Amino acid sequence: MAILGIDIGGSGVKGAPVDTVRGELLDERHRVPTPQPSDVTSVVEAVAQVAERFPGFERVGITFPGVVVDGVTRTAANVDKSWIDAPAAQLFAERLGAPVSVLNDADAAGVAEVAFGAGKDQPGLTMMLTFGTGIGSALFLDGTLIPNTELGHVELHGADAELHASDRVREAEDMSWEKWAGRVQDYLRHVEMLLSPRLFVIGGGVSKKADRYFPLIDVRTPFVPAALLNNAGIIGAAVAAEQAGAAPGPVEVPAGHPAS
Ligand code: BGC
Repeated sequence: MAILGIDIGGSGVKGAPVDTVRGELLDERHRVPTPQPSDVTSVVEAVAQVAERFPGFERVGITFPGVVVDGVTRTAANVDKSWIDAPAAQLFAERLGAPVSVLNDADAAGVAEVAFGAGKDQPGLTMMLTFGTGIGSALFLDGTLIPNTELGHVELHGADAELHASDRVREAEDMSWEKWAGRVQDYLRHVEMLLSPRLFVIGGGVSKKADRYFPLIDVRTPFVPAALLNNAGIIGAAVAAEQAGAAPGPVEVPAGHPAS
């Protein structure tokens, strides 16, 4: 039975069944607009609308654009504040009638890129950054996720970095690619100073246009565009749900091999 991945974004809630071995969608993804205001009740309904399109799923992975600890959403920088301390995994599971894993959106995108995309087989510290409504971050040490890093909120030029260099700000201020690339460069230099990653993987919708701004960026750390683009969140969420489902239960001892 299929595992569904659902990605809650600033403008859309998108989902599809995922082949978690190949890292591919098994069906065309379904999208509904993110409700405004994006309060808990409305977003749970939007997620249910997406899930209903793909009946017969076994479990569901869901991304959320904020900190998620043990299925509870802890912050809500770009969504309605009703999400702060909401028991998200439990609410989704009750509504969908299936086991649910919830993880941060950038962490999910990173999980997919490290498993199947631009971060595959990378040793040492890899940093995935997503430039969209906010700036999301996901850190991996030798392929293992260090969750909820929230590096989009480091201070840059006296303000929250995502208010300076997100893609939303580029669009809102109708910035030239040169100007925005300069801001992204300032930001990348700041985080490379803090953490010295071996590789930046740059994601978010704007990574489709990497040719417009990558050549204008000069930092010490190698940087590459995300490979899975729009589907990274959906795929990573499903992979996380699958891993949660496969978490070790009681060890079965085969007949004839008594536990000693
Ligand atoms: C949130 C992060 C999220 C990022 C991208 C930030 O404002 O704090 O949790 O990953 O936006 O959506």
